[in-house]
Amino acid sequence: MKETKRKEPLACIVLAAGQGTRMKSARSKVLHVLAGKPLIKHVLSVGEALGADPVITVIAPSMVEEMCSFLAPREFVVQGTPLGTGDAVRVAHGALRTFKGAILVLFGDTPLVRKETLERFLTVREETGAAIVVGAFEPKDPGSYGRLIVGKNGELKAIVEAVDATPEQRAIKLCNGGVMLFDSDVLWALLEDIGCANAKNEYYLTDCIALGARKGKKIMTAMMEEDDVQGINDRVQLAQAEEAMQERLREKALREGVTLRDPKTVYFCTDTVLERDVIVEPFVVFGPGVTVEEGAHIRSFSHIEGARIGRNAIVGPFARLRPGTVIEKSAHVGNFVEIKKTVLGEGAKVNHLSYVGDARIGARTNIGAGTVLCNYDGFAKFETVIGDGVFVGSNTTLVAPVSIGANAMTAAGSVVTKDVPDGALVFARAPQTNKAGLAIKFRDARTKKVSPEPLE
Ligand code: UD1
Ligand code: MG
Repeated sequence: MKETKRKEPLACIVLAAGQGTRMKSARSKVLHVLAGKPLIKHVLSVGEALGADPVITVIAPSMVEEMCSFLAPREFVVQGTPLGTGDAVRVAHGALRTFKGAILVLFGDTPLVRKETLERFLTVREETGAAIVVGAFEPKDPGSYGRLIVGKNGELKAIVEAVDATPEQRAIKLCNGGVMLFDSDVLWALLEDIGCANAKNEYYLTDCIALGARKGKKIMTAMMEEDDVQGINDRVQLAQAEEAMQERLREKALREGVTLRDPKTVYFCTDTVLERDVIVEPFVVFGPGVTVEEGAHIRSFSHIEGARIGRNAIVGPFARLRPGTVIEKSAHVGNFVEIKKTVLGEGAKVNHLSYVGDARIGARTNIGAGTVLCNYDGFAKFETVIGDGVFVGSNTTLVAPVSIGANAMTAAGSVVTKDVPDGALVFARAPQTNKAGLAIKFRDARTKKVSPEPLE
């Protein structure tokens, strides 16, 4: 995501101290993964892309161990007891005491919020001078969302939480999307005055609105889409959010000039980079860290992560590319081939049933069917280096560390344990002996046509 430069300083507070018990998980809710990235990372990235600095996360004491290294070098603060969204924001005050500008409050469990949507908040503040901008949306089912009470002049007068609302208020369709942008001075002043005399006995951040309106602060709304607001509380919502995010990523790829033959069967990560004229056949999964260069063709049932695939390369069907793999221009990787931490040179081919790990393979080299690079001895990993223009015969086993010189060949079925010089043809297998007539003798013995005698 490109970072936007703003005139007014912008900070961001990400609320993530909720317990997330409905996930029924040993891990913190916000560390569950959506399109290859933890939920909270989506929110942090969008805040950072807006140019917010600092971005402070509010977490619960139980999350510190699991999250501190993940959040580093970003600051986080700990909310001792989950006393409500207003209290959570108040906890971040210490970290933002000297900050002056606008403060954006986001929720760590709402990962679908878009940068373009948040830009509207900043524009509303710039254009109207509003002290607070609240995200408004009209959900199909307003359910438990806070209801927005808008005055005649279009300014916001209050937010009433659904549990505290009168039947008339509950009938209001315009709801609080959860995102709010505050003038920093206004935020800290209002937070001092909020109480917890409500149905949940919580300090509601949303109470700042009625308090602010009473003090004559200008409070405006910015419209949000329903899926910007979609929070994740359980695995059903996680699956729904994954679907929504995948739809976005598929559409983005298509709009950028990628052919997806059956888009709904292709899965992306947010960082997947596909250049124009890439073709992706049905049922392909892109894990984190994949770049596919112009004109490459990814065939069905391939699983690719941590890999760069060069221009016009062909991968699959049924290929597995693991982290650290570079497939250079016009190279081919075929069916039932697993490649890990390997550079496959320009125009090289590994087309059938092979395992290639920890290797450097030269340009135009052909790796025959059933080749296995034995890169691991149970303790450590070792490298295989294969030069340009090499022909590795079918069913060759290369026991690393080992190197094969340029233009060398290996005889099919060889077990190569020593380096092979340039241009050599290596035989590393038992020599063949033919025993004349022995097959006939063997069958006769087994069918008892003749009395048994030793076969040799
Ligand atoms: C909140 C809003 C509601 C709005 C809805 C949109 C309030 C009081 N209500 O309700 O008007 O329509 O979002 O989704 O703000 N959190 C903490 N500490 C706490 C409580 C919450 O960090 O003590 C965090 C949660 O982890 C979560 C976020 O704040 O990320 C929102 O809390 P949640 O309980 O989901 O608020 P809602 O009931 O959805
Ligand atoms: Mg919520």
